[in-house]
Amino acid sequence: MSEVVSYNREGNIGVITVNYPPVNALGQAVRSGLLAALEQGQKDAGAKVLLLVCEGRTFIAGADIREFGKPMQEPTLPNLVNTFENSDKPLVAAIHGTALGGGLETALSCHYRVAVSSAKVGLPEVKLGLLPGAGGTQRLPRLTGARKALEMITTGEFVGAKDALALGILDAVEDGDDIHAVGMVYAQKVIDEGKPVRRVRDITDKIEADKGSDVFDQFREELKKRARGLFSPFKCVDAVEAAFNLPFDEGMKRERELFMECMESPQRAGLIHSFFGEREVSKVKGLPKDTPVRDVKSVGIIGAGTMGGGIAMNFVNVGIPVTIVEVKQDALDKGLAIIRRNYENSAKKGKLTQEQVEQRMALITPSLTYDDFRDVDLVIEAVFENMAIKKEIFAKLDEVCKPGAILASNTSTLDIDEIASATRRPEDVVGMHFFSPANVMKLLENVRGSKTSDEVKASVMAVAKKIKKVGVMVGNCYGFVGNRMLHKRGTEAMSLVDEGATPQQVDKVLTDLGFPMGQFAMSDLAGIDVGYRIREERRKAGQDIPASWLDKLAEQGRLGQKTQAGVYKYEEGSRKPVPDPEVEQLIEQFRKEQGITPREITDQEILERCVYVMINEGAKILEEGIADRPLDIDIVWIYGYGFPAYRGGPMFWADQEGLDTILAAVKKYHSTVGGEQWEPAALLERLVGEGKTFGDL
Ligand code: COA
Repeated sequence: MSEVVSYNREGNIGVITVNYPPVNALGQAVRSGLLAALEQGQKDAGAKVLLLVCEGRTFIAGADIREFGKPMQEPTLPNLVNTFENSDKPLVAAIHGTALGGGLETALSCHYRVAVSSAKVGLPEVKLGLLPGAGGTQRLPRLTGARKALEMITTGEFVGAKDALALGILDAVEDGDDIHAVGMVYAQKVIDEGKPVRRVRDITDKIEADKGSDVFDQFREELKKRARGLFSPFKCVDAVEAAFNLPFDEGMKRERELFMECMESPQRAGLIHSFFGEREVSKVKGLPKDTPVRDVKSVGIIGAGTMGGGIAMNFVNVGIPVTIVEVKQDALDKGLAIIRRNYENSAKKGKLTQEQVEQRMALITPSLTYDDFRDVDLVIEAVFENMAIKKEIFAKLDEVCKPGAILASNTSTLDIDEIASATRRPEDVVGMHFFSPANVMKLLENVRGSKTSDEVKASVMAVAKKIKKVGVMVGNCYGFVGNRMLHKRGTEAMSLVDEGATPQQVDKVLTDLGFPMGQFAMSDLAGIDVGYRIREERRKAGQDIPASWLDKLAEQGRLGQKTQAGVYKYEEGSRKPVPDPEVEQLIEQFRKEQGITPREITDQEILERCVYVMINEGAKILEEGIADRPLDIDIVWIYGYGFPAYRGGPMFWADQEGLDTILAAVKKYHSTVGGEQWEPAALLERLVGEGKTFGDL
């Protein structure tokens, strides 16, 4: 018997148990173990019913993603589930945790499904650029009908046990957490009631009902908006439709063909890189696994503006009380009113109850004095980017905060070491860079200063997890990883417009690549004043920051979405950027002042100058050790700036573009456009010279 799957008989029930931590993924050993156990159960004359159950935290959570892209090994999952379904003895799947992907497909090949009420089921393959390739697209619609199956398969969202029962995916749901016991009771019921073998493939009433329906075309239309640029959701619809148009076995063949198309698509590779990258970033290089972590049970936040308020919501959402300090009462009132409005909006959408809104608001203590930070475990400063003010704040924090409190700055660009120098405890000072809107964006760029202690580094990574963010640890430099690369892109985007492109042309190239918004729409979202203030700071510090038409916008009070006018204009209540002739005139005027004759600019040039420049900078960031691995940069960009996950992040994408192509372009722009951003990164030159990729690092 295989080590990961066992067979035992308990009374007249044959129990097949999977035990393959952490998530019982269907690797080759599990698949062959399952087949062997099934065979044993079939032969075991004393077993009237077979029960499939899993040890550990969950039912089978899917195919083994680590095997994707490698040659397939027997037994394949489609063969395995067919053999299960063809069992002569009734098979019961008992589900706890999450039955996902291949796990749910295995359960669907069993004849009955029982679950504990905390369980969830889903077919999340689409999130990995795939479709369920072991009968999920053929069996699920036989239980749920077309629309629900399409929803589940094209979104990959999980469904809770009670809903799954109502949808017909499960046959019973029981309270309790002993899944083995729950499964045994149900299996006994199958014996006692003489329930027969019941194969999902033979259930056809819902297939007949939705045959010829226009739901598939409707869905394709919906997907054009919702899944723009994605490959596999459309293949999912084709596969589900096959369940309605073809006999079961032919439908299975069609599903397989479509599955293989997805498997071969570069999007699959990008999405799987993102999946593992998201998990890998939590393992910080050089930070021992057993580093002690400080428990954060209360938080102080300085600043009730957009950032401070958004940051506060993250903590309140997971039940951690927050004290927000502002200088003036009206700023405090305004900040709290915005937080309340955000929660009320969620309540209106049915995402929160009014009671939950009140509970969350009650966790926030507004204050006008730093003395209220005396007992908090973590303080996050979220005032605007001004070094002198930040240093003043940190000196005050040093006075009032208890020993062991973590002192964090939400700065998006400034030097953490200089901020830390204002305190007598630089080892407790760290950057925690949230992304706007801070209650929504998943990235938390944690910035280590040169003196930040390991304990504080480990603690802020743990905080990220606690508040459901993806934390990435990065080094200290101007703009850290994300904004340092963004600023290079921004510089090029501005130059391109100066030289003759329109903001909307630049933005379209970026959205065509898969970004949810372009450079200029993003400036409008973040606020034109934010960048303006940073530039002004740097000018004051004596840096040579050239004048730009963006400064003029800021000076005119066109601050972006919040004033309904920035680079674009916005209709009342709409976030849709509309090109504004006034801005075009302003740009033209600016070109005249600068003596620039505009020229035609191609989309290819925009792509190269806006994105290759980021790759070159990313390579420098790696060389300098600001990011530990290319995947850290990828995750920063996917979760902080909406780089399309299906392209795997900028560095993964660069490998697919070809580093030699990128280096050649970098060298070209170095001689034509000039500027330190086009100075080729030594790492890029080395990799190209050695015929290697970022993935080889
Ligand atoms: N194959 C291989 N490894 C997997 C896996 C899979 N299907 N699903 C999870 N893992 C690994 C993770 O990489 C992680 O490994 P690590 O500890 O070495 O980093 C570990 O299992 C735990 O996963 P994690 O996501 O950190 O745990 P969680 O409890 O937060 O979530 C799941 C568990 C199962 C909900 C989540 O991992 C998930 O959604 N997995 C993907 C499921 C899926 O897409 N299945 C369909 C594939 S066909």
